[in-house]
Amino acid sequence: MFNRFARHYDLINQIFSLGSGEWYRRTCLRQAGVGPGAVVVDVAVGTGLLARQAQRLMQGRGTLIGVDLSESMLARAQKTLSIPLVQATAEALPLADGIVDFVTMGYALRHLSNIGEALAEASRVLRPAGKLVLLEISAPSHPVIKLAAGTIVGGVLPAVSAVAARSRQAKSLMDYHWRTIATYAPPEAVLDAMCRAGFQNASCASELDFFRFYSGQKPTPGQEETDRAI
Ligand SMILES: C[S@@+](CC[C@H](N)C(=O)[O-])C[C@H]1O[C@@H](n2cnc3c(N)ncnc32)[C@H](O)[C@@H]1O
Repeated sequence: MFNRFARHYDLINQIFSLGSGEWYRRTCLRQAGVGPGAVVVDVAVGTGLLARQAQRLMQGRGTLIGVDLSESMLARAQKTLSIPLVQATAEALPLADGIVDFVTMGYALRHLSNIGEALAEASRVLRPAGKLVLLEISAPSHPVIKLAAGTIVGGVLPAVSAVAARSRQAKSLMDYHWRTIATYAPPEAVLDAMCRAGFQNASCASELDFFRFYSGQKPTPGQEETDRAI
């Protein structure tokens, strides 16, 4: 599906985030500690929207690698990012154990068939005390706000996208987005999955009860305690 929609992705993203997408992605990465000298793997790099913000924070120092399943999304990323881009899945990262400071993943949890496998892979490639950073959207918990979000994100924005992109495919992509958002697991379930994968200090910060920024840390040898905060 992402192969078919790659050419519309950046425009749809602009519409969907009302232009705040770059700022939000960069703010979350900065809060997680991404900066110069880090080794970062951006899983599900897509067209590179999150990786570009990581690159900006790293100021030319460190290592940034992008991984994605879709060759068309990777081809788009290649146009604006001069970093290694690898076609692979989140569930089988072609990287050695314990070499990465940050595993980041923007808006891809909803598309994974097995979140447990992907989190286990992230943990495997992270060094002890390395961080997992996940951005995702999930439906607001309040039923009235969820209904309002469904009207805007599931109704108005797909129509706007179709006009802006002059393509019915763009509408299909937005329709798909809302379906996956509306049915995706709540933050508590994602935090549970992070804890089950062994991450410590698993936390979720929400904006508008809609945009979620999850982070967790791989324990250092000997550390077993798991804190959880939401
Ligand atoms: C919504 S896009 C997110 C792109 C980017 N991270 C961002 O912040 O805009 C989701 C991406 O996840 C990729 N993807 C879906 N399932 C995947 C998997 N199992 N392994 C790796 N990438 C996957 C898709 O190809 C797509 O590029």
